[in-house]
Amino acid sequence: MDLGVNIDHIAILREARRVDEPNILDALSIVKRAGADQITIHLREDRRHINDRDAKNIIEQSKLPVNLECSMDIEILDIVLKLRPHRATIVPEKREEVTTEGGLNISQEFESLKGIIELLQKREIEVSLFIDPTFDNIKIAKMLGVEWIEFHTGKYANIYAVLYENLNRSSYPIKELELSRNRLKSMLEKEIANLHKVSHDAVRMGIKVACGHGLNYNNVKNIAKISAVQELNIGQSIVARSVWVGLERAILEMRELIR
Ligand code: PXP
Repeated sequence: MDLGVNIDHIAILREARRVDEPNILDALSIVKRAGADQITIHLREDRRHINDRDAKNIIEQSKLPVNLECSMDIEILDIVLKLRPHRATIVPEKREEVTTEGGLNISQEFESLKGIIELLQKREIEVSLFIDPTFDNIKIAKMLGVEWIEFHTGKYANIYAVLYENLNRSSYPIKELELSRNRLKSMLEKEIANLHKVSHDAVRMGIKVACGHGLNYNNVKNIAKISAVQELNIGQSIVARSVWVGLERAILEMRELIR
């Protein structure tokens, strides 16, 4: 299973002071040395972390493939088409959200997505769709002809957090907080079983599967066991751990867990 390291949060630290450090480009060699397989970045419409210059420099200088997450916004897509990253992952985006709260509504956006995917693929950019883990979504992704899908694991991570990490704070609402432990345990099992099933369904249909969002050093083990999942994209927990142990070791530890 491959590991994509999302380095947006390094730019968050820089933007907290609007200075030049930490230099995001220093992350490229460290991520590679630590044995990760991909650099993931999200060029948000509000440029709250990665900016246009970062995206350009990272794509030009990274020795690892770059997965550029982007919304369906015309201006952003224009930049993606010019920069030609290895892969573009299309994600839903709301200005006011702290982080990506769920997957794309691909049935509603079918026609627009079709045009966007064609444009990206014509420029030889692999396309991935960030979606919630349902069979209906896979069927639509198949019709859209994408190479990859990435399942949003936020719901799984949230239930896990409430159950085992004593977490009652989240970047998006945890409805599950009110539920009993037994009910939460069965919800967690159901969520894992569902991720397992839809990942295998997708692979059988010829689509490569990544997972991401909210994965950390505790909860990653259940997802790492799903053999149909080819890649995990992890950001916040790795960058948070790097504050204590350094980026290289934080990635190595995650790599070890995934293995
Ligand atoms: N994958 C996608 C498509 C994302 O949008 C994000 C968050 O930017 C991640 C993975 C990484 O999520 P986290 O920072 O919670 O590990």
